[in-house]
Amino acid sequence: LAVEYGCEAPFEVEYHDSIPSTNDRARELAADGATDVVVLADEQTGGRGRLDRAWSSPSGGVWLSVVCRPALAPSRVSLLTIAAGAAACGAVREAGVDARIKWPNDLLVLDPDAERGGRKLAGILTEMEGEAERVSWVISGLGLNANVAGDALPADATSLLVERGGDPVDRRVLVQRVLERFDDLRDDPDAARAAWREHAATLGRRVRVTLPSETIVGEAVDVTDTGALVVDTGAERRIVHAGDCEHLR
Ligand code: BTN
Repeated sequence: LAVEYGCEAPFEVEYHDSIPSTNDRARELAADGATDVVVLADEQTGGRGRLDRAWSSPSGGVWLSVVCRPALAPSRVSLLTIAAGAAACGAVREAGVDARIKWPNDLLVLDPDAERGGRKLAGILTEMEGEAERVSWVISGLGLNANVAGDALPADATSLLVERGGDPVDRRVLVQRVLERFDDLRDDPDAARAAWREHAATLGRRVRVTLPSETIVGEAVDVTDTGALVVDTGAERRIVHAGDCEHLR
């Protein structure tokens, strides 16, 4: 993957054959003042997902973390999650796989027979550090099951390799497309939101969003320019900034 990767993308890339977690390495670089750097690995031995879950990251995937320093208040950082999700989904669809975004950050290949209505192709873990006014750094970590064989995938997951009937994707091109799209969207909330809407599976769906203190059920009608989900419960419109979202049938 390292040798395959070109230099045209707008980020400096630090490549590892194997590393515990690209997000952890990106945190070290961010602490040293780096920006617009990408940590990319073929394999992670301690990949992390949202909600302290482990993230399976065998060789053949695209495991990457982008360090940036946007002029954003912490409350607007989910914009970068939206931008990263839309960028990854656009690149995946260009590779011929019809993935959709489940709010806020999952790329799914929809399948009504799958337990949760789709199989997970990718996820995003956004981490940040900063003050009330402005973040110091943001790390967008993307885990994309690219050339991962079916027997190496977790339950309910899929990969580009599986979806393309065994035809491996060119990861160099894929990574470059993701990064170019992310670079176009990261400073442009309107474009990020429009791209996200274009690829969304969640909008127009009945959803259940689980928050620490309550559960909201209703129709997902929009996403705000800070990446929050707008849910119409019938009685009111709720704006949900973070939470676990399930598509209901
Ligand atoms: C999720 O829970 O859906 C988010 C998964 C994010 C995984 C990626 S892989 C690259 C980066 N490094 C990590 O340890 N996690 C993220």
